[in-house]
Amino acid sequence: MTTLVNLNGALVPADQAKISVFDRGFLYGDSVYEVIRTYGRRPFELAAHLTRLRRSADRLALPLPWGEERARQEILRTLASTPEQATPDPDAAPWNVGEVSLRVIMTRGAGELGLDPALAVGAVAIVISAPLRGPPRAAYRDGVGCRIVGVRHDAPEAADTTAKTGAHLSNVLAVAEARRAGAHEALLLDRDGQVTEGASSNVFAVRGGKLYTPPLAVGILEGVTRGIVIALARSAEIDVREVPLRPEAMAGADELFITSTAREILPVTSLDGRAVGSGQVGETTTRLHRLFRACADRECAAR
Ligand code: PDD
Repeated sequence: MTTLVNLNGALVPADQAKISVFDRGFLYGDSVYEVIRTYGRRPFELAAHLTRLRRSADRLALPLPWGEERARQEILRTLASTPEQATPDPDAAPWNVGEVSLRVIMTRGAGELGLDPALAVGAVAIVISAPLRGPPRAAYRDGVGCRIVGVRHDAPEAADTTAKTGAHLSNVLAVAEARRAGAHEALLLDRDGQVTEGASSNVFAVRGGKLYTPPLAVGILEGVTRGIVIALARSAEIDVREVPLRPEAMAGADELFITSTAREILPVTSLDGRAVGSGQVGETTTRLHRLFRACADRECAAR
């Protein structure tokens, strides 16, 4: 077993990591989380993830059990104690071999049953350190399929969708719908039919050499990878436009890709069962992924 859990500061094997059935994260999704990955077994963009965790917690008025420095130390301590994977996956993309995914979860804690946050006592902090399971090498070579699903993106007015919270039911249902259609990722529209994001990714389209992605104002997560990709594209003098996108713009794109911590830049070569552009991984996607890989390698080498 190569998964290790840090539960409120105690390192425990995965099968002994237990929390209360009264925990509000379990009962109501009343929690915030981050997923951080390693390169060379060092956390990538740790500061950005911890800042976003703090911001998510602020939006829910959820008091974090650990401050930023304690969280950093606990993450590093958990990572350092995580055993190496005995048998690496032969299909893994080379940059994922031997790497670790760190899921940091903070819940408002347990307490008497009831929605009132004032009932919460004993906030819980968890780090789950597990082997990174990114897309296989073949997915980067051939691209994956996406499905624009019927499940709509949560309304930003309901719960702040820009916060990374444990309330994920619509994303779960969206992925189920995508998988039934044989697609890797679900793309969600908002109530007005505009494209928002993937169930666990941000989405980009390339048309006529320009890069398009929905703006943060539609209520999407400000992806750490999204931010890096936009900065890399701008520095490579690619015109980046953060504008609302209709599904037709996705279907008519030359290239599509999704971004997330575990996937980096993953080409999307089919949408709703139809080829995107040539049906092959596009030039701009390949170029940006190369720039991203160089950036991740540099970050590792710099330490
Ligand atoms: N998901 N949008 C949503 C809804 C997400 O859940 C995620 C990340 C992203 C991409 O964000 P980033 O580039 O910071 O990983 C966008 C994480 C990785 C997850 O739930 O596994």
